[in-house]
Amino acid sequence: MIIPIKPWLDLANGKGSDGFNRFHRQARSGLALCADADIEESDLLYPAARSVLLSDHFNHRMEFYHDPILAPEILDAMQPIAGKQIFDGTVGGGGHAELLLRHGAHVIGCDQDDEALDYAQRRLSSYEDSFLPVRGNFRDMDGILAGLGIGQVDGILLDLGVSSRQLDNPGRGFSFRENGPLDMRMDVRAVLSAKELVNEWAEEELIRIFREYGEERRAARVAREIVKARGIKPIGTTFELSEVVGRAIPKTSAKNPATKVFQAIRIAVNGELEALETALEKAVNLLAPKGVLAIITFHSLEDRIVKRFMHRRSNPFIDRPEWSEPRPNPEFCFYLPSRRAIEPEEEETRRNSRSRSAKLRVAIKA
Ligand SMILES: C[S@@+](CC[C@H](N)C(=O)[O-])C[C@H]1O[C@@H](n2cnc3c(N)ncnc32)[C@H](O)[C@@H]1O
Repeated sequence: MIIPIKPWLDLANGKGSDGFNRFHRQARSGLALCADADIEESDLLYPAARSVLLSDHFNHRMEFYHDPILAPEILDAMQPIAGKQIFDGTVGGGGHAELLLRHGAHVIGCDQDDEALDYAQRRLSSYEDSFLPVRGNFRDMDGILAGLGIGQVDGILLDLGVSSRQLDNPGRGFSFRENGPLDMRMDVRAVLSAKELVNEWAEEELIRIFREYGEERRAARVAREIVKARGIKPIGTTFELSEVVGRAIPKTSAKNPATKVFQAIRIAVNGELEALETALEKAVNLLAPKGVLAIITFHSLEDRIVKRFMHRRSNPFIDRPEWSEPRPNPEFCFYLPSRRAIEPEEEETRRNSRSRSAKLRVAIKA
C-alpha cells in the first residue's frame, strides 16, 4: 500500500510540516525588516519589475496550472522583498507564491484543495522553509495564522475562483465542456456538492442563486426545468445539467447557455462570496502597518464586494448633508494606490485568455 505523504500543515487534523518551526522563527525575524519598506515608491519601481518578471515567468513553464495572472502588477503592489511574510490564501498551483518567494518573501500558501496543495508543495520544495503550505479556507485566515503563532503579515493575496486545473479536470465536475460527475467542490471534504444542490434544493432557492450569483435573467425557467427533470430521474452529470439548462435557454451565441447557471452553482456550493466578505473583514486586523491587501477577481459580483469594501474603509472622513462638517470615518484603515481596478495588459490577455476578465484591487494598511 502506498501511503501519500502530505508534508503540509493540515488544519483539519492539526498536523504540521517538519519545517514549520524553522519557518516560523525566520518569518518572525523577518517581520522586523519589513517595517522599512516604502510602498509609496512602488510606482517608480513598476517598469523595472515588469521587465524582469515578464522574461522570468515566460521561462517557467507550468504543465497544468495557468500562468499567474497580473504577475508584474502583483509584484509591484506587494514588493515581496526578503523578510516580508505574505499570506497567499489561494495558492493553487503556486504561481503567485513562486513569484513572491523568488523575490525573497516568506509565503504561507493556503488552499482548500488537497490536490492543489500537493502540487504547490512539490513545485516549491526548493524554497524549503520559506514556503509553508497549509490546507484550509481563507475565510479562516485569522485562525490559520493564530495557529502558526503569527499575529500580522505584510501582505495578503487572494486570486479568487477556481484554477484551470480544477476547471479542466472532468472528475471535479466544474465544467460543462467535459462530462463528469456533478460536483464542483473545491474542498472535496465539504458536505455540499453540486449534485446535492441541484437535486435537493427548493425551486425558490435555485431561482435565487441563479439570479444572485449567475445574474441569469431566465432563472425561473431554468429552475422549473431542473425541478421537472429531477422529478423523473436525479441529475447526476455535468452534461445532463447542461442539457436540462439548454431546454430553458435556447442557444443564441457561441457562449454555452449554461455558463451563468454553472457559475451560480459553483459560487453557492463553495460559499465563495461569503468567504470573500469574511476574509476582507479579517484582513484589516491581520495586516501590519503598510501591509498590502491584493485581490484578483474574475466577475462583477466579486469585484463589487472588493470595491465597496476598499472604498468604505479608505475614506478618512464621512460627510452627510445633515452634518455641519465631515466627521472621521471609524472604519478608515486603508490607503488606495488607485481607486480604480488594475486590468491586465493586452499582451497578457492575448497570451492567457483566462486573464481577460481579471481585475486587481490593492489597498495598503494605514
Ligand atoms: C485561481 S486559483 C489560484 C492560482 C494561483 N494564484 C497560482 O498562481 O497558481 C484559485 C485557487 O484558490 C483556491 N480557493 C478558492 N477559494 C478558496 C478559499 N475560500 N479558501 C482556500 N482556497 C480557495 C482554489 O482551490 C484554487 O486552487
